[in-house]
Amino acid sequence: MSETQFTPRVFSGIQPSGGLTLGNYLGAIKRFVDMQGDEFETVYCMVDLHAITARFIDPDTLRHNTRELCAGFIAAGIDPQQSILFNQSQVPEHAQLAWIFNCVARMGWMQRMTQFKDKAGKNAQNQSLGLFAYPALMAADILIYHATHVPVGEDQKQHVELTRDIAIKFNHDFGVDFFPVTEPVIEGAATRVMSLRDGSKKMSKSDASDMSRINMTDDADAIAAKIRKARTDPEPLPSELDGLDDRPEARNLVNIYAALAETTPEAVITDHGGQQFSVFKPALADLAVAKLAPISTEMSRLMDDPGEIDRILAHGAEQARAITAPILKRTYEIVGMVGA
Ligand code: TYM
Repeated sequence: MSETQFTPRVFSGIQPSGGLTLGNYLGAIKRFVDMQGDEFETVYCMVDLHAITARFIDPDTLRHNTRELCAGFIAAGIDPQQSILFNQSQVPEHAQLAWIFNCVARMGWMQRMTQFKDKAGKNAQNQSLGLFAYPALMAADILIYHATHVPVGEDQKQHVELTRDIAIKFNHDFGVDFFPVTEPVIEGAATRVMSLRDGSKKMSKSDASDMSRINMTDDADAIAAKIRKARTDPEPLPSELDGLDDRPEARNLVNIYAALAETTPEAVITDHGGQQFSVFKPALADLAVAKLAPISTEMSRLMDDPGEIDRILAHGAEQARAITAPILKRTYEIVGMVGA
């Protein structure tokens, strides 16, 4: 599809719109950590411009959430020496390229975005233009780095596909091979962590019930209590994975176990098949506490020094701009902006 060789580069982002959940950790951050290394350059972003699309949140809360998200990344194992770590609004090329992409993307493409439909509900006419245009900003986030790989949870797949469509149309319209056709990386046991109260709903920071999710700031007692009270059916775990097909809540707990233990759902069923939830849930709670409590402790330690977090973000933004400024300049030249 593309003849140009692009540097293998990973980009991904998380909204600082509320606290981090276990879904964000297993579906995204843990996998970001795994992609650090020699194979890729890794660039990770707190997408604060995205966080104001649904509504403006209190400015102090937004600043707090952004710093806390940065602390979460580092506590989970993102190394600012190895990865570029920054917040989106400090790198203006994201918003600048997004404008160009607003002029590439078609209304019909945006109207098909299921996440907009879900978030807007029956009230689409009253949503901000930003919420509608959000996927074009996400495409800009990715393509302003010429990122080749984007690790995300299942719910972001359609947005990465739109990013590919935007790259292809831009390249085609201007007769260039400038933007890569990015691969979504949606892998592992927990690309869609479900609510602990309802196995048909995604675990989400915006769910009204705090019992539906594990927050990365929860302490050991809260984590254990939420797993103990997680909704399940009365049957024991099956002895084969197929036995989970119509049991979404059981399937979810097995997937969470597998992702935390860095194994597969098959292996979890091999070890725990036939167990009652009165046995499996405490095992899962112990595992979750062992893996998550140290992250939450480290997050709160890092949050004691917000000045240091701000320095890390400012340094990351500087490193990011070394990549984004030339790519924006070249985009402007291709489009025909005088002075670029
Ligand atoms: P956001 O902030 O909603 O979620 C951040 C990441 O966490 C994943 N995730 C989940 N994975 C598994 N199970 C869940 N229950 C769950 N909940 C969330 C998401 O799939 C995502 O990977 N639009 C994006 C942010 C974004 C972005 C980007 C991502 C903006 N620009 C560029 C990648 C590249 C979003 O709202 O994610």
